[in-house]
Amino acid sequence: MKIAFAGKGGVGKTSLTAWMADHLARTGRNVWMIDADTALSLGQASGLAAGDLPEPLIRRGDLVRDRIHAGGFLNLNPDVDDLPETLAVDVPLGGPARPGVTPGRKRLIVMGAVTNAGGGCACDANALLKAVLAHIVMDRDDWVLVDLEAGVEHLGRGTVAHVDGLVVVSEPSMRSLQTGAEVGRMATDLGLTNQALVINRLAHGTPPALDGLPEWSVTIPPLPGLMERQMTDGSVLGLPETERIDAIIENLLDRLGAKRPALA
Ligand SMILES: Nc1ncnc2c1ncn2[C@@H]1O[C@H](COP(=O)(O)OP(=O)(O)OP(=O)(O)O)[C@@H](O)[C@H]1O
Ligand SMILES: [Mg+2]
Repeated sequence: MKIAFAGKGGVGKTSLTAWMADHLARTGRNVWMIDADTALSLGQASGLAAGDLPEPLIRRGDLVRDRIHAGGFLNLNPDVDDLPETLAVDVPLGGPARPGVTPGRKRLIVMGAVTNAGGGCACDANALLKAVLAHIVMDRDDWVLVDLEAGVEHLGRGTVAHVDGLVVVSEPSMRSLQTGAEVGRMATDLGLTNQALVINRLAHGTPPALDGLPEWSVTIPPLPGLMERQMTDGSVLGLPETERIDAIIENLLDRLGAKRPALA
């Protein structure tokens, strides 16, 4: 299954992607994390040191040229079979696997700053991104989690055309929910109706149901362990609240209809 995370800036998209990926790996599934944001933060949120991050695809001008401009013309259906393996780095688990479970492999691919690419190659890199996403979904049973850039641009460029589930992340604020509603509407227009809303950092109260927001929602409270951690460390894994986060993620996966094999 392939799930994308979208929403306004700073609402928790990267944290949720990192939490879900780690949960899946600790319960025995292989996961590909795709950082399609410009900030390159998914690796750090998953506990990787800056020096261990994979090189962003966008900087691999050789690949972009070879695959997209193979034979001297624009190839919108490039051969990318080998790219996930070539581009990914393994990411250590953020905690122990479930007892009796063989942990899955967690890998990270960084797409890079597609919008700020400069030199006019953003479209090419974007075509490659789409091809990689499409390929992973079609050819593998593995899980794919895509941490999208803030806002609605990515949806407009159609990079989520091959996703089967969308997590709209929002804070309990009107502006953030409005962006979430816009994301929900655009995704629905693109045919992606399997959506769930995560309201992050909800301390109390009930946020309004806006037209366009996914109907089903789950909430995450402000996490004191994370607030303390983030002063000294970029990782969002291995928190004192992990059990609680895992339960929320399970709920979210059930809602998205994620068919998970029974735990070994
Ligand atoms: N429930 C929470 N409680 C406390 N802190 C949180 C919570 N969720 C996320 N954070 C913190 O909020 C900040 C923003 O989270 P995150 O980077 O995941 O958001 P984002 O939507 O990916 O942001 P961007 O749009 O910049 O990519 C991070 O410092 C993260 O540690
Ligand atoms: Mg982010």
